Amino acid sequence: MRKPKALSTRPLFPAARSILDQNAEVEYWAEPQRIPRAELLRRVRDKDALVCLLTERVDGELLAAAPKLRIAATISVGYDNIDVPACTRRKVIATNTPGVLDETTADFTWTLLMAIARRLVEGDSWTRTGTWPGWDLDQLLGGDVHGKTLGIVGLGRIGSAVARRAQGFRMRVLYSNRSRVPEELERGLNAEFRSLAILLCESDFITLHVPLTPETRHLISTQAFEKMKRTAYLVNTTRGPVVDESALVDALERRLIAGAALDVYEREPEVHPGLIPRKDVILAPHLGSASIETRTKMAVMAATNIAAFFGGRRPPNALNGGDALGL
Ligand code: DGY
Repeated sequence: MRKPKALSTRPLFPAARSILDQNAEVEYWAEPQRIPRAELLRRVRDKDALVCLLTERVDGELLAAAPKLRIAATISVGYDNIDVPACTRRKVIATNTPGVLDETTADFTWTLLMAIARRLVEGDSWTRTGTWPGWDLDQLLGGDVHGKTLGIVGLGRIGSAVARRAQGFRMRVLYSNRSRVPEELERGLNAEFRSLAILLCESDFITLHVPLTPETRHLISTQAFEKMKRTAYLVNTTRGPVVDESALVDALERRLIAGAALDVYEREPEVHPGLIPRKDVILAPHLGSASIETRTKMAVMAATNIAAFFGGRRPPNALNGGDALGL
């Protein structure tokens, strides 16, 4: 029997490759630059499965170019790169990689939060460039983290993992969410529910953990910045378009907030030019889940979803399916 054909837009890691190779005849895109769109559309034409990254859009155009496609597995928890309803219409299963990156992303959120509060990047640059004039009393003074109020926007798995870290810093934790989480979880995380407007007014640190949807696009814009404390810091490790970058630049110019630490951008890999020269921002290149362990688990998860599908089972992380696809 012929093995299904798959395209992987990256060479992946050995653990993921071995699962994929057992289940499909796989073509790996192994060039150093990411796969050009035209090349992706050409190579996916005869494939039954696609393993892709968050930088590749699985939309109507791709689905039309891939008449045999039956499953598209993105190696990311966020799946705003996949048009799931369009996949369902074309009877293509879409999968993502939830869960395995929560702690790693929360670690990195904490890294950014600490680094912006304590001006680590500015300090590193002084030390590295020989411009540090030696210890002084009022040098590079930042804000304390311990004992402050943390506002978590989106108390899902990653937001909850961030809340757990805040306990070690004796922080007061507020959260806003589409709906209030069960009381038991609130108690366990020591987190108090607030409307977004109140959370923005009361928090010293605001960290974003909502997925990108039409409702969350530009959730943090001028109106939101105007509500924040003048001493507040914003941390974004979810998706860039949740923050209106022009409004952020304006808020920093007007000193509406003290600073921002960003891992994600509206038009990656472009960064708003108004952010680049600023010392009150930290600009990381989308590193939230970037540990060897976690990225390996994510790739293995995508491969496992494909293996399950070709083994006749419902992929464990299917985003659609059910009756519509007979799975
Ligand atoms: C995701 O998985 O959605 C992250 O942005 C990358 O790990």
